[in-house]
Amino acid sequence: MKSDVKFTVNGVLHEVSVEPRKTLLAVLREGLSLTGTKEGCSTGDCGACTVLLDGKPVTSCLVLAVEAEGLEITTVEGVAQLTELHPIQEAMVELGGLQCGFCTPGIIVSSFALLQENDNPNDDQIRRALAGNLCRCTGYTKVVAAVKDAGKEMRRLSRKSARKKA
Ligand code: FES
Ligand code: FES
Repeated sequence: MKSDVKFTVNGVLHEVSVEPRKTLLAVLREGLSLTGTKEGCSTGDCGACTVLLDGKPVTSCLVLAVEAEGLEITTVEGVAQLTELHPIQEAMVELGGLQCGFCTPGIIVSSFALLQENDNPNDDQIRRALAGNLCRCTGYTKVVAAVKDAGKEMRRLSRKSARKKA
C-alpha cells in the first residue's frame, strides 16, 4: 500500500505517493528526476547520495521517503542560486576538485552545509565534514582547497552586501 508524503525539495513543495520501503534517494532520482544525487554503494558508506534534510547532511540511500514527511530537502540542484553557481561549485571547477565527478554532488552538498555554518573552516574542519564522502580520484587536497576558496569568496560577498546596506 502506498503512502502520501509531502516535503519540500529545493524550495518547491511536492506531494508524492510512495511505497513505504522506497528510499528518499529513489524518489528524488526516479520520481522527481533530480538525478544530480548519485547512487554509489546504497549502504550508507560512500556519501554520493548526500542531501540536506532540514539543513543537515544525510545519506539519502538510508532514509525512507516517508521519513522525510514535512521536511525541507536540499539536493545538489538546489545549491546553485537561480542561474548562478554557488561559490563552492565555482571553486570545485576552478581548482580542479573533481576528476570523474561521481562523488562531486555529495561533496558539494556536504561542503555547502559546512560553509553555511562556518565560512572560514580550517583543514581539519573540512576533512571532518567530508569524512562520509568517499572520493577515489582526487586525494582530497584540491577539494579542501576548493572549500577554503569558496569560504573566502562567501566572506567577500557578505562584506560587499553589508557595505551596500550601510
Ligand atoms: S549511495 Fe548512499 S552512501 Fe553510498
Ligand atoms: S572525482 Fe572521482 S570519485 Fe571523486
